[in-house]
Amino acid sequence: MTPNSVADMKHKIAPSLLAADFLNLEREVMMINRSEADWLHLDIMDGVFVPNISFGFPVLEAIRPLLTKPMDVHLMVVEPQKFIPELARLGTFMMNVHYEASTHLHRTVTAIRDAGMQAGVTLNPHTPVALLEDIIADVDMVLLMSVNPGFGGQKFIEHTIDKTAALKEMIARKGLSTLIEIDGGVNRETAPRLLKAGADVLVAGNYVFRSPDPPGTIKELKAL
Ligand code: DX5
Ligand code: ZN
Repeated sequence: MTPNSVADMKHKIAPSLLAADFLNLEREVMMINRSEADWLHLDIMDGVFVPNISFGFPVLEAIRPLLTKPMDVHLMVVEPQKFIPELARLGTFMMNVHYEASTHLHRTVTAIRDAGMQAGVTLNPHTPVALLEDIIADVDMVLLMSVNPGFGGQKFIEHTIDKTAALKEMIARKGLSTLIEIDGGVNRETAPRLLKAGADVLVAGNYVFRSPDPPGTIKELKAL
């Protein structure tokens, strides 16, 4: 099994760079490389789709030569389809677009795959998983937001546990192997419950980067 195979059985951990020390990005990336992290989660915000602005493609370009883990890019932007060629050029492994930002979602996920990337569809906390019935067979992963996107360090929305279980049931019913990723408020308390409900990939920002021992915290999440 390879570290970026979507068929791996063990759950994956994707630390979110949003909570890293931006004055020491090289050190943070090297820490991720040495850790048991499976992917690096990268949050790109435009100040329009979400009420915040994070970082953009020049930062991905700078870390790419150092990073040995696959890039899991979460676009919190309007018209995410515009950025498919740039993210493919940067070597993105997984490109996540929001359902709420994509008028022609099928066209967008097809174009993401045609560009050589895995396609992820992201749902805001208020968006029902039932809306995925007619697209789920065409995507590699569903990213469920367990906080309202735009900021790290928010409180986990409890309803995400039921949503995860409902999505897992849909994936099983259709005989698919679509991954479920959860983003927001993941910690020692919420992670085991999410895994039990069917999550395959856990994003963790503050819980990892603000801990006294980030590699140890990644190891702890990986061991659950
Ligand atoms: C929020 C981002 C998350 C964020 C998670 O809009 O999508 O990836 O970094 O941060 P924590 O784990 O601190 O809630
Ligand atoms: Zn994210």
